[in-house]
Amino acid sequence: MKILVVGGGGREHAIIRALKKSPACGEIWCAPGNGGIGYDAKCKDIKATDVEAMVAFAKEEAFDYVVVAQDDPLALGMVDALAAVGIPAFGPDKAAARIEASKVFSKNLMKKYGIPTADYETFSDPAKVMDYIRAKNKYPVVIKADGLALGKGVLICEDEAQAEAGVKEIMLDKKFGASGNQVVVEEFLTGPEVSVLSFTDGKVVKPMVSSMDHKRAEDNDTGLNTGGMGTIAPNPYYTPAVADRCMKEIFLPTIQAMAAEGCPFKGCLYFGLMITPDGPKVIEYNCRFGDPEAQVVLPLLESDLLTVMTACTNGTLADTEVKFSSGAAACVILASGGYPVQYEKGKEITGLTEGQLPGVADVTVYHAGTAVKGGKLVTAGGRVLGVTATAGDLPAALAKAYQAADQIHFDKLHRRSDIGRRALQALQAQK
Ligand code: AMP
Ligand code: GLY
Repeated sequence: MKILVVGGGGREHAIIRALKKSPACGEIWCAPGNGGIGYDAKCKDIKATDVEAMVAFAKEEAFDYVVVAQDDPLALGMVDALAAVGIPAFGPDKAAARIEASKVFSKNLMKKYGIPTADYETFSDPAKVMDYIRAKNKYPVVIKADGLALGKGVLICEDEAQAEAGVKEIMLDKKFGASGNQVVVEEFLTGPEVSVLSFTDGKVVKPMVSSMDHKRAEDNDTGLNTGGMGTIAPNPYYTPAVADRCMKEIFLPTIQAMAAEGCPFKGCLYFGLMITPDGPKVIEYNCRFGDPEAQVVLPLLESDLLTVMTACTNGTLADTEVKFSSGAAACVILASGGYPVQYEKGKEITGLTEGQLPGVADVTVYHAGTAVKGGKLVTAGGRVLGVTATAGDLPAALAKAYQAADQIHFDKLHRRSDIGRRALQALQAQK
């Protein structure tokens, strides 16, 4: 099969590396891709959000299968547009992608079908939001922009003044554009967070190994929110008992709810969960693989990714095995100093040969923001590389990932030194 992967970050690199293990995978392309992905796939510089140009390119090159990995082209209906020209694609159609693209849609879905989530109200009138927050008078309060906001549309407000500033930013100043036309105001939940990505064909759901993201920029979960500074899998808080409850109370009901609403979800459905004192609750849904969750989950997948993906598209997932290794994986993100605010690009990256660490077993370097300029690999984004190691257990995977990361250098490199620390403490406590 000739395959196109749409996107250009570490997640897309991890998908490409996993797809290439499949005997059925022929020529593989990535659009737009990036410098480091160029060692593994042909890259074509088309913006992931340019649906028209992407579909024209897919037709021209006669791709057999397209994997739409990024949220915004899914929300824009790229899978529908590809289907209209007869090209099958992995990912939800536009109607199903609303589960991520509209928080008002997903919260109302959960309420209607009794899926556990934080209590909430939705608003389109800024004045009414503040009346509600003042009347409740319970802080912190969580305010979320309805639409996609590059992961920055969630505000946790400690008092009335912060809530007022937040509502102004989202609804009046329109910091996230039309994504802020409506907001969700919800109760603040506490407990460890777990990411569970799942494969689904709209009828059955097969969860992948669980993972834990580290969203803050600095050690000990301080600093600004980022796209994710590192991940580990499996997540020790996702015990077999929790997994059972999630399947019964969250995963199956969500798949059934989407089908009942006339928009069955096919692709990778990401459950962002919080294990609260009252049990697991949904914090958010994403309509795609997480980044950098994919960089720890896919290296542990033992089944053939291409077979599983096409089964999701064709509705045959019930008959398809989805098996994961019993080991662990850890990914440490190497970012540009200053990320997620302001950072420089074009710094030479040293220590890699053709994008990888040759001779280092069980380690893969996933490229998120790299470019090749004048024959040299240079930084080209906030998150630059994700260094993933797999091993029999989490302590070994973490040690290997950090050892490998130590061999890679560029000016103003920033990384967290405590990826997996909380997970290790949780494992200790469980002993
Ligand atoms: P999201 O962009 O929806 O993943 O939200 C970003 C982060 O905000 C989550 O990973 C949580 O840590 C936090 N968050 C979102 N909603 C809540 C909530 N209701 N209570 C507590 N924390 C939340
Ligand atoms: N790492 C969180 C996400 O992909 O949304």
